[in-house]
Amino acid sequence: MKQIKLTVKTKTQKYPIIIGHNLHKNLGNIIKKNSIKFKKCFLIVDKKVPGKFIFNIKKSLKQKEVYMYSFHASEKNKNFNNINKILEIILSKNFSREDCIISIGGGITGDTSSLIANLYKRGLKLINLPTTLLAQVDSSIGGKTGVNSKYGKNLIGSFYQPNLVVADTIFLKTLPKREIICGYGEIFKHSLIDSKSFFNFLNKNYKKIFNLSSPYIEKAIYESCKIKRSVVEKDEKEKGLRKILNFGHTFAHAYEASQKYSKKLNHGEAVVLGIKTALNFSLENSLLKKNEYKLIVNHINNAELPSSLNEFLKIKDLKKILSFMVRDKKNNSSKISLVLLRKIGSPVFNREYTKNKIKVFLKNYLAN
Ligand SMILES: NC(=O)c1ccc[n+]([C@@H]2O[C@H](COP(=O)([O-])OP(=O)(O)OC[C@H]3O[C@@H](n4cnc5c(N)ncnc54)[C@H](O)[C@@H]3O)[C@@H](O)[C@H]2O)c1
Repeated sequence: MKQIKLTVKTKTQKYPIIIGHNLHKNLGNIIKKNSIKFKKCFLIVDKKVPGKFIFNIKKSLKQKEVYMYSFHASEKNKNFNNINKILEIILSKNFSREDCIISIGGGITGDTSSLIANLYKRGLKLINLPTTLLAQVDSSIGGKTGVNSKYGKNLIGSFYQPNLVVADTIFLKTLPKREIICGYGEIFKHSLIDSKSFFNFLNKNYKKIFNLSSPYIEKAIYESCKIKRSVVEKDEKEKGLRKILNFGHTFAHAYEASQKYSKKLNHGEAVVLGIKTALNFSLENSLLKKNEYKLIVNHINNAELPSSLNEFLKIKDLKKILSFMVRDKKNNSSKISLVLLRKIGSPVFNREYTKNKIKVFLKNYLAN
């Protein structure tokens, strides 16, 4: 399978996303071909990315001065202390603004690395090598950076676009099935907010995607990136339209936070549960028709995506869930702002609901 290239053009940056198999071995050349110039680079690496890949990457960067920091990527470690620690190390190596950060890991590594790239001397170059499916289809593009705080998820962050994204499907081979499902959740979300034909493709080919069969996996990544790109290009800073990418996420972030980011419920799983909750809320509020709802829920069930919220959360968690939903960054008032669905490809955003309305809904939902 050949390389696929997509270009993202925002007000602040124009950059390529390159999708293909075994690209990391050739990273040095890809960087050169795309005219990204730097002398020093600082690799921020998730410890779970197999060493042989890191060895190959370092080998391909032999013309550069390479430094590396590896860390255990977890939601608990996605915090400002870690950012500060890494910034101090880069400062001690006297990196200049012309130098480069290379993120090698999933969404946690990417969100952390890009905030560091943004903060260091007000911005240095940034290359993303996403190693999870979720990061390849979603978090590595669009420029959102962020870390968690005890008040909630991704509450500290900025917008900072990368200079290059290289989505190498070879990284996915060592990814646990659970993480493949999580990435698939974001692919599925993109289909729901944008494209019935992509949804139909997923419905037909999800097993091949789960098995990472070519060209299905590449097509799923490409179509997902295309959908995210079109939204980000229209609304880089989430003033309006970009909110649709948060479909399911207002619920999801509150589920994760109320579980204290426990490993029992990871981000991708929370997103699928959040999507299912948002579908039920859309149905109950007469936005989504029953037939369309059934079609989507059948896909969730057939693909065996996480779907029963009460396996993870109980009615006793309701107070905590609501307190996190009220603090969500998308809210502009005391009400809770939700993205809902009218039909596949037709999301609705800026719908605001009172805490009490959501409380009553979630209480029933958790009881069933
Ligand atoms: N910036 C954005 O636009 C955006 C969008 C969506 C999600 N996110 C963020 O992304 C994070 C979730 O991303 P994620 O699902 O990639 O999580 P992650 O970074 O935690 O990776 C998931 C797991 O896979 C492991 N891993 C990574 N690469 C591997 C590989 N090649 N082989 C084996 N194991 C590997 C990690 O160590 C981790 O245990 C969340 O913090 C979320 O808030 C950000």
